[in-house]
This record gives sequence, structure tokens and C-alpha cells, in this order.
Amino acid sequence: MTGKGKWMSAPPEEIVCYCLGVSKGEIIEAIRSGCRSLKAIKVFTKACTGNECETKNPGKKCCSQDILHLIDLYVDNADNSATADSHCCCESKK
Ligand code: FES
Repeated sequence: MTGKGKWMSAPPEEIVCYCLGVSKGEIIEAIRSGCRSLKAIKVFTKACTGNECETKNPGKKCCSQDILHLIDLYVDNADNSATADSHCCCESKK
């Protein structure tokens, strides 16, 4: 299973950001605390700030897309402008 479906059924302890060791449960807690965008979740949890995704993440990519799936799943009124405005940690290296 991939994308949103995977995250809908994943347990809370499932790791989302391997660089920082941030779990699905921690991302949901951030959303419940008011985070509505990738940028806000980065500030709240430090997820998606690691820059070692190719070696630490089994998917060999940054967790930003996974966090965006969780925002889609758990935020009723996602701040899409802020989401679109938020850059993946890996983009700064390119
Ligand atoms: S997996 Fe999240 S920043 Fe690397």
C-alpha cells in the first residue's frame, strides 16, 4: 500500500521522518495542536529537517510527501497556500 492509504492504516508508532525519528503519532499530535501545513509541522516536530533521507529513510527520499499525506488525512481545512509554500528539506541541497 502506498501514499495516503498506507498512512491511514499505519499505527501511531510508525516512523514518518527517519532522519529525526518522528512518528505518525507525533505528526498527528502536531496537527491536533494546530499545525495546518508542512512548514508548521516542521517547526513543531523538527520532522523534515534532517537532510540525510537518502541514507536513513528506507524509501530513499525525504518524508515531506508522507507528511503532506497525513495533513490531507487529518487536517479538515488544510492551509494549502502555506503547504505549497513549504519546501522539502532536500530542496535546499539542490
Ligand atoms: S526522512 Fe524526514 S528529513 Fe529525512
